[in-house]
Amino acid sequence: NVTKEFVRGIPKAELHLHLEGTLEPELKLALAEKNKIDIGQTTIEEVRKSYQFDSLPSFLNVYYPAMNVLQDEEDFYQLAMAYFEKVQAHNVRYAELFFDPQAHTTRGVPFETVINGYYRAIQESEKFGVQSALIMCFLRDMSAESAEETFEQALPYQDKILGIGLDSDEKGNPPSKFAAVFKKAKAAGFKITMHCDIDQENSIEHIRQVIEDIQVDRIDHGTNIVESPALTQYAKEHGIGLTSCPVSNGFVVDDMKGKEILQLLHEGVKVTVNSDDPAYFQSYISDDYFTLSEAYGLTPEDIVTLAKNSFEIAWIPAEQKATYL
Ligand code: ADE
Ligand code: ZN
Repeated sequence: NVTKEFVRGIPKAELHLHLEGTLEPELKLALAEKNKIDIGQTTIEEVRKSYQFDSLPSFLNVYYPAMNVLQDEEDFYQLAMAYFEKVQAHNVRYAELFFDPQAHTTRGVPFETVINGYYRAIQESEKFGVQSALIMCFLRDMSAESAEETFEQALPYQDKILGIGLDSDEKGNPPSKFAAVFKKAKAAGFKITMHCDIDQENSIEHIRQVIEDIQVDRIDHGTNIVESPALTQYAKEHGIGLTSCPVSNGFVVDDMKGKEILQLLHEGVKVTVNSDDPAYFQSYISDDYFTLSEAYGLTPEDIVTLAKNSFEIAWIPAEQKATYL
């Protein structure tokens, strides 16, 4: 049977993790003090008490203001290093990490401050037994023009960014809104992924757009794909991976979507388990595997397949995958 130790012990890749979502209350308070930022809370308990959300927008309303404490390069470096240090115990061997430059540039923090801080940490993650890479996300509730500007800012740093993603509030912000900039990103050689959050308006149409029109390499969340046998079959045949986040789902839609995750897993779709925003959902990746397992009765084989999938859909060369599998 599946124990916490078993789940922790399995080598795994984390493919859906927002670096800004790893900001633990302790670091938040320390940076607030260092940078003299009033975040309206002064104790861990007060910070934790503010973590009340029952939907994606209510989560984002807590998530973005907290980022004000991130000011200089060292802050971004420290945030990412704290994540690597933490997931050592979870046997994360490889991680592709999202970051949201617009959440910082819009409040006056230069793009280069963000990328230089995060990239320095990425280069040092090996110290904690983790290889890692960065995925830059556009905020979909901002304009397509703003995404284009951000893309231009990123081009000089292309060697430091593996892929491009799309996150934030999906309501009214379909993938098609960003078709032009993602076409450019693909042509420039970036890997492409997009969030198709759980139970959104037009969920299946958004999933259809990312697969057929944008031609993504992966989909973040995306488990509503089970509603379309044709799209599910397409994802299976083309090895399009889904990065699901059961504990995060539990917070934002009150349903871990374990039934859908297991259905996809057993149908042979490359679905994975990830932590999304672990500091906010108080669940690092092994906890996600274990919580899902307890609630839905996963077998050890299910856990192993989920972990294998995480390396198979990682954006690393086949030779490198072989060393993990
Ligand atoms: N940014 C951080 N977490 C997110 C999520 N689960 N969905 C969309 N945007 C996010
Ligand atoms: Zn996410």
